[in-house]
Amino acid sequence: KRHLLDLESLTSDEITLLLDVAQAFKESTQDCRHKLPLLTGHTSVNLFFEDSTRTRTSFSLAARRLGADVIEFSASSSSLSKGETLLDTAKTIQSMCIDTLVCRHRAPGIPQMLAENMDVSVINAGDGPHEHPTQGLLDILTIRQHRGDLSGKTVAMVGDIAHSRTARSNIWGLQKLGAHVIVCGPSTLVSRRWEEFGVEVSHDLDTILPRCDVLNLLRIQFERQYTRPFPSVREYALLYAMDQKRMQRAKPDILIMAPGPINRGVEITPEVADGEHSVILHQVNNGLAVRMAAMWLLGAGRAR
Ligand code: CP
Repeated sequence: KRHLLDLESLTSDEITLLLDVAQAFKESTQDCRHKLPLLTGHTSVNLFFEDSTRTRTSFSLAARRLGADVIEFSASSSSLSKGETLLDTAKTIQSMCIDTLVCRHRAPGIPQMLAENMDVSVINAGDGPHEHPTQGLLDILTIRQHRGDLSGKTVAMVGDIAHSRTARSNIWGLQKLGAHVIVCGPSTLVSRRWEEFGVEVSHDLDTILPRCDVLNLLRIQFERQYTRPFPSVREYALLYAMDQKRMQRAKPDILIMAPGPINRGVEITPEVADGEHSVILHQVNNGLAVRMAAMWLLGAGRAR
């Protein structure tokens, strides 16, 4: 494949290949500390129109670990402010002989549009509420490392499913690898529609909790809500925050995950975020390996 735009369109074999390559990079480079100069001469551009800490940093590092050059594009200080369109901007950058465009944008479909109109590999680094494929892959890789084969595992995505690209990528990826997926949260944020795709829908965390092998706790995305959020943050924390009391009713080996950024005291308490079941920082480290794998698999066919 030329682009990585979503997990919905990937086969289970393609997802497994990405995970296996990421695992191999991780093991051969001591958690991606060392360089593997496999993309020397390639250039990757980070085209981010939304804020990011984890994704942007790890795409930059991943490219550098593979020996590629990296350009950090800043939308706010670019000629977009003078009226240049997004596509003209992207094509202008492409003229400088780039190989990979890593794009984050608030509008769903922008990476797809760039992929259709440009002659470079495009990686979706999050397009609005649509998908965040490398986040889905790093979450799945983390579960695989800690719990082995995904088949038969019960994974609950808890929180703001309605606005979460991470939830969508996880749902497609996890189901393709045989996991049972539960989406859980208030009815305003979790639609029954997901049942049509084989996902279990719940509005009651306390009921599903004893069955879960993994909880992936999502942030409420206030920036994507255009009406007053319901429930309120206080109500949400009461009903859905993973705290020590709920931990006592969970499986003894439950895995606690969060894609980040986390809001301590809302979807997760500090004791649980920093507790022995939490693999939140392992997820971040796996992001480096997954992004190296994606860049290498997309770029290898066009080695310079
Ligand atoms: N999980 C995630 O995408 O984090 P950032 O917004 O910090 O990149």
